[in-house]
Amino acid sequence: MSDINQEYSAMAKTLHWLTAIMILGQYLIGITLDYTEWKSLHFQVGYIIVILVLWRIIWRVTHVYPELDPQIKGHGRVLAHAGHHTLYLLMVLVLISGFLRLITKGEALNILGFNVAPLMDAMSKDERTPYKLAHEYLAHLFILLIALHVLAAFAHQFLSKIPCLSRMLPKSLAKYIEEKHD
Ligand code: HEM
Ligand code: HEM
Repeated sequence: MSDINQEYSAMAKTLHWLTAIMILGQYLIGITLDYTEWKSLHFQVGYIIVILVLWRIIWRVTHVYPELDPQIKGHGRVLAHAGHHTLYLLMVLVLISGFLRLITKGEALNILGFNVAPLMDAMSKDERTPYKLAHEYLAHLFILLIALHVLAAFAHQFLSKIPCLSRMLPKSLAKYIEEKHD
């Protein structure tokens, strides 16, 4: 029976899964924007993610989180730490680049129901291109890293039998997969 004592706190789990679901949904909304009328939904969901990510980062630095499982050693450990830090960095960069891409249009903003005057004059199409590309490529890079992160979590849990996924899951689900694959 693997050891799940080193599990994440209820708040850490809640913040992880809430931001994960919203970010994945936001990416789907983003890549389908050409075929939908969901631009303003993308921006409002974006602002909610900003609040959640700020909350998550503040929580992360003000609370003790469990160490990586001791069975993850050497390069694997360095890679896991670097991966988690890069995920945090990309969370922030994707949000900032999206906001910059939006304000360079020079339009009035609606931020969660509050009307805000344009923050700058409208840029030309050419001037906006770097912001467009930055948001687009950072979002794709973010999703690529998330896919690797998910693969790593599954591989550790089910191939290497390291209780990695289970300590981030709700207790009942953790017990279920631990018993099934013990
Ligand atoms: C995790 C957060 C986010 C993700 C994953 C994400 C993802 C995407 C994706 C994939 C696109 C389509 C890219 C393209 O084909 O050009 C897009 C477009 C866009 N996003 Fe985001 N986005 C996020 C947050 C935000 C935020 C916070 C804002 C601003 C409040 C924002 C503003 C925009 C704008 C202005 C566009 C272009 C819309 C248009 O005029 O067609 N995004 N986003
Ligand atoms: C937007 C999507 C995601 C992001 C940004 C993300 C980010 C992170 C980060 C930064 C950590 C380190 C712990 C922390 O500081 O909270 C973590 C841990 C973890 N994530 Fe994700 N995650 C995402 C989605 C997923 C998904 C879909 C899975 C499903 C398998 C998953 C499984 C895990 C597991 C198992 C851990 C614990 C690793 C350990 O310490 O043993 N994550 N995630």
